[in-house]
Amino acid sequence: MSGPLSVFRDNVLSGHVALVTGGGTGICRGIAAAYARLGADVCIVSRKQDVLDAAARELSEQSGRTVIGVAADVRNPDAIAAAIRTTIDRFGKLDTVVNGAAGNFLAPAAALSPNGFKTVIDIDLLGTFNTSRAAFEALSASGDALILNISATLHYHGTPLQVHASAAKAGVDAVTKNLAVEWGRFRIRVCGIAPGPIAETEGMKRLAPGEVTEKMAAAIPAARFGTIEEIAAAAVYLRSPAAGYVTGHVLVVDGGHCVATPPLGMAFPT
Ligand code: HXC
Repeated sequence: MSGPLSVFRDNVLSGHVALVTGGGTGICRGIAAAYARLGADVCIVSRKQDVLDAAARELSEQSGRTVIGVAADVRNPDAIAAAIRTTIDRFGKLDTVVNGAAGNFLAPAAALSPNGFKTVIDIDLLGTFNTSRAAFEALSASGDALILNISATLHYHGTPLQVHASAAKAGVDAVTKNLAVEWGRFRIRVCGIAPGPIAETEGMKRLAPGEVTEKMAAAIPAARFGTIEEIAAAAVYLRSPAAGYVTGHVLVVDGGHCVATPPLGMAFPT
């Protein structure tokens, strides 16, 4: 194996069972792939069964582990509870939940309908709570559980056209801290990853179309977009025994984007 995942031993997650919402595509498919590649059995959850079926087949073939796809909308607590039951029926337990299902689009606040704002809050924030809440009992029985919430860095500053997603992701980070405090005694760690701009994701297609992409990359200290595999590597670290005492923390993986001074027309020194 080469790339960021090569530093982990092959079976570091063997015996683990993970459920990954949003795992049919993009960043969360990459996390599901990495977990399976390193020994976990995985249930991926999203709204489209055909997308899940194709992804589950490919990830199973690549990893040699069992990857199943169960369609559920994270906005529907009954549907997500059913997906968790299916996972436990199939694999006997649940150790890890990755809350990655998200929705987003660019919209000026003055033109955004209340329902547009609510829709993104419902998917990102309520979906994270619904899934975590539904998984609590199973995770309490694990003895070594992790909830990993995927947020963003949008809300660290004001971000134009993103009031809905920024508010939702700020809420997700709050859920991370609060559940870490409440559920530590049940041996459930709760962590987050805040990805910066990541190449080849639906999010970047929606938020940085065409020529915006180049300008955005120039404003990143690392001078490039991140890769899905780099986010997956962070997710493996947080799931691994190396992070056994890490909880309530949101790990920013963004090439330095959110700590850089806004460019204000100034070029980086060469
Ligand atoms: C303004 C919009 C809109 C748009 C939808 N709405 N798209 N408003 N601009 N482009 C409004 C609708 O008008 C409607 O309000 C309300 O949102 C609900 O729309 P629906 O289409 O009925 O909702 P639904 O079918 O549930 O779809 C949810 C969705 C959709 C978020 C709107 O785009 C989706 O399903 N996306 C999933 C995939 C996705 O977004 N991936 C990118 C995630 S990236 P009214 O008032 O008309 O009823 C990401 C990264 C964040 O999350 C961080 C980046 C750095």
